[in-house]
Amino acid sequence: MKKSIIAGIGMYVPTNVVTNNDLLKYMDTSDEWIQERTGIKERRYAHRTEETTTTMGVEAATIAIERAGITPQDIDFIIFATLSPDYYFPGCGVLLQRAMKMKEIGALDVRNQCSGFVYALTVADQFIKTGMYKNILVVGAEKHSFGLDFSTRGRNVSVIFGDGAGAVVLQPTEEANRGILSNHLHSDGESAEILAMYNPGTHANHWMPEKYASFDQAEIGQMFFSHAMIDDAQVFPNMDGPAVFKKAVVKFPEVIMEALNANNLQTTDINLLIPHQANLRIAQFVQQKLKLSDNQVYNNIQQYGNTTAASVPIALCEAWEKGKIKEGDLVCLAAFGSGFTWASTLMRW
Ligand SMILES: CC(C)(COP(=O)(O)OP(=O)(O)OC[C@H]1O[C@@H](n2cnc3c(N)ncnc32)[C@H](O)[C@@H]1OP(=O)(O)O)[C@@H](O)C(=O)NCCC(=O)NCCS
Repeated sequence: MKKSIIAGIGMYVPTNVVTNNDLLKYMDTSDEWIQERTGIKERRYAHRTEETTTTMGVEAATIAIERAGITPQDIDFIIFATLSPDYYFPGCGVLLQRAMKMKEIGALDVRNQCSGFVYALTVADQFIKTGMYKNILVVGAEKHSFGLDFSTRGRNVSVIFGDGAGAVVLQPTEEANRGILSNHLHSDGESAEILAMYNPGTHANHWMPEKYASFDQAEIGQMFFSHAMIDDAQVFPNMDGPAVFKKAVVKFPEVIMEALNANNLQTTDINLLIPHQANLRIAQFVQQKLKLSDNQVYNNIQQYGNTTAASVPIALCEAWEKGKIKEGDLVCLAAFGSGFTWASTLMRW
């Protein structure tokens, strides 16, 4: 069976740099608190009206396609991962297809939040292996800055997230020693509500533990969203940070080891681990637990914050552009996030 290789990779981050101190205009926080708890120094925010999740995806995709030595018309399938789509529906895949004037190819949207890119890449890998497609564009992009609670009430979430996009072109290869070796996907919906944006949604409080229930019983069945939801900040992401942290530091190492074990490899064989940029402290914890050296792990959350579905391809692209990934290197992608979902991909570059 054929293997898949990343034939082209690109990234895009908006030019607008927002430092921790810039956030003091909106909320009670501090540069010291943010850096100590998350490692983040600054993040990028997209232009309010001129940039969207899709336009950023297009920027990253354009670079990835050029680097693959093909044109947008050669792409035969699109997979777009995001939690901050331009529209509730349709998804960003078709908007990108239109913007890039691609053929009437299939476009799939993936909603797996922080592990969205690794999930999307895994789906693409299957289509390449079976021979169904030859040039799949996989995009991860987010415009978080449009949907965060910038008051002190939302500070535990809003200081963490940033905007950006990353993209790869996946192609088949005949080379035995290159390409994606394996993918590993997991989920546990038991804690779905502890990192979630509930509204607008159709849940009508059905799943919601009382502490998360977001609107009056009298409203149920009458409306998809209400003024009260907006007034109560129920239209913003909600996160129990410590609970996310505890689960992440278990599942990240587990899914990395699963990938290594599946291929009879060891942590010392990893040339570069690209962890989802959730929080520098989580990445450092994983590094220590797996006894990886600084050279074996790539982090850039300091500059971009957590860009959710975009974080893995942005970090992968930046590491590659800096010459930290060479042909033949063993590269491990690993992600964990809302759902919870977590995933890893091991590849020989
Ligand atoms: C979010 C996170 C940084 C918070 O750090 P923490 O040490 O767990 O902090 P807590 O949530 O327990 O809050 C501690 C205090 O800091 C305050 N605080 C929260 N956000 C703050 C901010 N931006 N600035 C200043 N103070 C803040 C809280 O109100 C709380 O104050 P209190 O003790 O007076 O009640 C941390 O839990 C974390 O990184 N979790 C993982 C999140 C993550 O990775 N999410 C992405 C998943 S893909």
